[in-house]
Parts: sequence; C-alpha cells; structure tokens
Amino acid sequence: MKAVVYHGPGKKSWEQVPDPTIEQETDVIVRVTTTTICGTDLHILKGDVPETPEGTILGHEAVGVIEEVGPGVRNFRKGDRVLIPAITACGQCDACRQGMYSHCVRGGWILGHTIHGVQAQYARIPFADTSLHKVPEGLKDEDVLFLTDILPTAYECGVLSGQIQPGDTVAVVGVGPVGLAAVMLSRLYSPSVIVAIDLDPRRLERARRLGADVTVQAGQEDPVEVVQKLTGGRGVDVAIEAVGIPATFELCTDLVAPGGRIANVGVHGKPVTLRLEKLWARNIRITTRLVDTTTVDRLLKLIAAGKVDPTPLASHTFKMDEFMQAYEVFSQAAAHDAVKVVVKQ
Ligand SMILES: NC(=O)c1ccc[n+]([C@@H]2O[C@H](COP(=O)([O-])OP(=O)(O)OC[C@H]3O[C@@H](n4cnc5c(N)ncnc54)[C@H](O)[C@@H]3O)[C@@H](O)[C@H]2O)c1
Ligand SMILES: [Zn+2]
Ligand SMILES: [Zn+2]
Repeated sequence: MKAVVYHGPGKKSWEQVPDPTIEQETDVIVRVTTTTICGTDLHILKGDVPETPEGTILGHEAVGVIEEVGPGVRNFRKGDRVLIPAITACGQCDACRQGMYSHCVRGGWILGHTIHGVQAQYARIPFADTSLHKVPEGLKDEDVLFLTDILPTAYECGVLSGQIQPGDTVAVVGVGPVGLAAVMLSRLYSPSVIVAIDLDPRRLERARRLGADVTVQAGQEDPVEVVQKLTGGRGVDVAIEAVGIPATFELCTDLVAPGGRIANVGVHGKPVTLRLEKLWARNIRITTRLVDTTTVDRLLKLIAAGKVDPTPLASHTFKMDEFMQAYEVFSQAAAHDAVKVVVKQ
C-alpha cells in the first residue's frame, strides 16, 4: 500500500510501504476512504514532537471501511463504515474508566504519533471496540470526518469547559479550524454575542458565515477595546483560547468578565505568564484539557439531525496520490485560504 511516511524534521513522502496486519486480537484493519491533515502533523514535521520515530506513517483523523477484524473484536465486522477518532481508548484502564481517553495508558493519542497512522490506504487500529464509531447510513465521509478531532476538541475543551449559558457573551481567540468549530458549536447554547478574533481577515469572514456576530482583526483593531464597548465595560463571560501562544492566552485574561471562564484549547510550547495580581479577585475559572473524543456520539447525532454541519470547514479536496500537494496547501494556509483539506482514496 502507499502512505505518508515521516522521515525526520522537514521530510515526508507518499511512498510504498508494507500493508498493516492484525497484531493484537482487539485490532482491526481499516481501508481508509477519507482522511485529512492536522496542525499537529505539521508540528511533527517541524521536529516539535521528538518521540515520533522516523519511519512513522502520519495522520490521526480518518473515515474508512473495515477490511479485517481481530479475533477479540465484538462490535465490528468486515464492511462496517467507521470513524477513526484521534484518540484510542483501551476502555479498561483507570483513565478510560473516568472517560479521560486522552490519558489512556495503552492508547490516547498514538495514531500517527507513536504508532503508524491513517494517512495511508490501510491502517491498523488498536482497541477497535472501544475506539471506533459506526457511521450512520445516509452520512457521507465528509459529513463526519471532522468528528475525528477538531469538532470534539472545540466542543469538549472550548464550549463545554467554558460552560456557555444562554445569553452569555463569548470570545473565540483564533479562528483556525478549531476556533471556527468553537464558533459553530457555541451557537448550540444560544449566547447573546460571539466575538471572533484573528489576524487573518479571510478566516474572520468564515467565522462570520459560521455564526460569529462580531469579528475583530487583531493587529488592526484592539480586541479589548471592542469587547469592552460591546459588553458595557464588563468583558465576556467566556473566552476560548484557540491559538496556543502566550499573547493570546494573556488576551483572554484581559477579555474575561468578573465571574467568567477562560477555556484554554491551544497547545502551548512556551511559558505563559498568569497575571494573578490582576486576576485573583475576579472570580474567574481557567480550564485546560486534552480532547477525549467522549462527545463524538453526541456530535454525530447533531450532524445526523442536521443541527450541525461541519462541511464548510473543508476548503480543499485532493486524491491520496496528491498528498504532497495537500500538505503544501495546508501548511501555507493563509496563502491558499485553506482551513481543512480533505484527502480521498
Ligand atoms: N487541547 C487539545 O486537545 C487540542 C486538540 C487539537 C488542537 N489543539 C490546539 O488548538 C489550537 C488551534 O488549532 P487550529 O488547528 O485551529 O490551529 P491554527 O494554527 O490553524 O489556527 C490558529 C489561528 O490563530 C490565529 N492567530 C495566530 N496568532 C494570533 C494572534 N496573535 N491573535 C489572534 N489570532 C491569532 C491564526 O491566524 C489562525 O487562524 C492549536 O494550538 C492546536 O494545537 C488542542
Ligand atoms: Zn488532529
Ligand atoms: Zn485506557
């Protein structure tokens, strides 16, 4: 089969590799029909994720059809269409039993990280019974593809952690794929205003189409000033950080109202200053977490019912043979007005 193989910082190729085989009795082999690229794959390629061995097949977001099942698999059979979430769950360790699949001692984020991933024609998926989801009939791969990572990330780490209530004011800082999904899913809770903040005017335009009421181009306008004006000087009830740099986390602390919540979604690689001398008396809550993908079934129901449509997050579509071009477009997102790229069999 062919796959995207990581060959050390800056190096990858779409190349011939051996087909995957069942290694544990709880494994399945999936023929990948649709997959996508994530910002995390770019981090691996930059060399930011040193634990990923050279020779690893990249990718952790895909939809496919089961080709082969291990003898211990109970809930799936050959021919089932399945969603492969970024997070693998053994279902039995302490973390899994608390619903914290991201911290599963045998799973968590392993696909395309510490074991071969899904940017390939076929993939081995461990712990299939407790990790995979059947795709309901009538839904296309593209309808459910983003349930593998960015939708549950925006929902669990942003919307649910931020405890958005009807009437709340919400700021989403950073409207890349995750921030855009946060804008879309915040609307389920009827906030009075959603403010989207980004540097890129085209991403802000997309945020507006997905439900942002107000957009602020950081760098051109002062987000704090705009939010103060909008909220009568109070600040927002919920600030969702979806960038992952010190400046945007600190911006969230300037945007939040007394009694508000800051839901950090961004992955931070640098120390961030927490201005407790400004914040200690403001009754705010700050949450951090990894996505567990425990809400996939709930989001799947909303998509099947037509209440959520993630397809506008896809900006480009490629064939697997064009994988290197797909990487080029996704990694130069601003130049190509790219959000998520869909890569099909
Ligand atoms: N917690 C988790 O489990 C989890 C899971 C997946 C992704 N993430 C993280 O979520 C974050 C968002 O992911 P993404 O794929 O949307 O990332 P992205 O890089 O595609 O998007 C980030 C957006 O932030 C904007 N931005 C950059 N600097 C800014 C600034 N100073 N002010 C305002 N906007 C700014 C960019 O223009 C871009 O639109 C990343 O840090 C990612 O690693 C976290
Ligand atoms: Zn991802
Ligand atoms: Zn586990």
